[in-house]
Parts: sequence; structure tokens; C-alpha cells
Amino acid sequence: MRLCPSIPEWRAARAGADFAGRTVGFVPTMGALHAGHRALLERARAENDRVVLSIFVNPTQFNDPADLARYPRTLEADLALAGGLADAVFVPPAAELYADNYRYRVSEQSLSLRWEGAHRPGHFDGVLTVVLKLLHLVQPHRAYFGEKDWQQLQLVRGMAQALFLPVEIVACPTVRESDGLALSSRNRRLSPAGRAHAAQFAQTLRTAPDAGTAAATLRAAGFGVDYIDDHDGVRLGAVRLEGVRLLDNARL
Ligand code: PAF
Repeated sequence: MRLCPSIPEWRAARAGADFAGRTVGFVPTMGALHAGHRALLERARAENDRVVLSIFVNPTQFNDPADLARYPRTLEADLALAGGLADAVFVPPAAELYADNYRYRVSEQSLSLRWEGAHRPGHFDGVLTVVLKLLHLVQPHRAYFGEKDWQQLQLVRGMAQALFLPVEIVACPTVRESDGLALSSRNRRLSPAGRAHAAQFAQTLRTAPDAGTAAATLRAAGFGVDYIDDHDGVRLGAVRLEGVRLLDNARL
């Protein structure tokens, strides 16, 4: 596994013999890897000759500086988890990736303004901009995204179509704990009691008869509800518990 801590080092690796004539699968992440990321890497491994993992805590997608500051940074553990699955790990410095000081950005004008976008203004501009930069640098044949971030997945897919990007966006099922809680890097900030309580979120999304009932049930159970909405056969939700924001969705 080759670690590339700068854009020039990554470009040299990508242009080298090891990648020549091979299909490339790409898993972009912000690190703090868990079994959900592992499933993305495994899928990429199964479908491509080479697998590239990127780890970059993208400052432009955080609208709350405190949230960015406390985002877990666990490079050693991440490299251990990716071992045997990724051929290269690209860890670009922010100063290189944003040498333009974020003067150039991708902005979607419709879906990105709803749900997550309404609660985190500018979030998806940051996501789409960094994903576009990474796709240009990595030049993958396929890129893998989790269905847990349903809105992100739709927007990345839409961007790839709208901008004619030569990449297949592959959606991967959400990986869950045995009680249904979707895996997330943020779950580790919950207390043991909060963690046990959090399972009600996924259960309620799945079983409530409508979005309004789901929101009322979750509020009564002590969750702060940012939104619950049924859209296009999917129930989307974001809640807060112990100051931790949880995001999930369920097929209707
Ligand atoms: O889903 C994530 O971890 C991030 O939003 C992504 C796609 C890596 C962009 O920073």
C-alpha cells in the first residue's frame, strides 16, 4: 500500500507502471474509517484492478468550525483498516487541494438546498467541489459512495452526469450495527446510554406510518429532529442526540 501525502506524489504514482492499463476504483473519505468504509473498499477491490482511498477532512463542507475541529483524525488506525484493500492512500494537504482559496466551487441550485443543505448552508458546495477535485486527480473508472448519505449520493451522481465526468458512481448499501444504527464516524461521540438509545432513530424511520409520525415519535423519545421527510420512495432524516448529529434514511 503506497501512501501519497501530496498531490505531486500522488500524480507520480497514478502515472506509474502500477496503474497503467488497469481499472481503478476510488473510495473518497474523511478518515475515521469504520466497517462501512471497509465495505466500500471491499466492493471497489472486487470490481477493479486497483483501489485508491483518499483521506481528507474537507474544511469547506463544515459550516460549523467546532464540528470541523472535533472531527476525529485517526490516520494510523485508518491505514491499518485499509491494509490489504487499498493499493494507494492519497492524503492531500488542504493548502494544495485549495490552492485557489476556494475561489472556484461547484454549486448545485436545487436538491442541495433541501434537507442537509437547509440545515448546513454551503455544505454541498464543499462536498461537490472536493469530490470534483479528487475525481480529476484520481481519474478512477468507478467511485464508491454509501447510501447512508443519500442526498450526497444523488448530488454526486447528478454532478457526474451534468459535467460529463468519465466515472461510474457506485452506490453501496448502508452498513448497520445489529440494532439497526447506521455506522458513522460520529457514533463514537455518543455515551454508552446514548449509543443504545440511538438505535430508535433507524427503527422509527423504518416503521412509522408517515414522516410526521416519525418526527413526533423521535421528539417524544428525546431526539432533536432537524428534519424527517418522505421523498421519491425514501424517508430521509437527521436528528440530534447528546449534541451528536445522526443522519439516516429508509426505503419506503
Ligand atoms: O462522505 C464523505 O465522507 C465526504 O462527504 C466526502 C465524499 C469524502 C467528501 O469530503
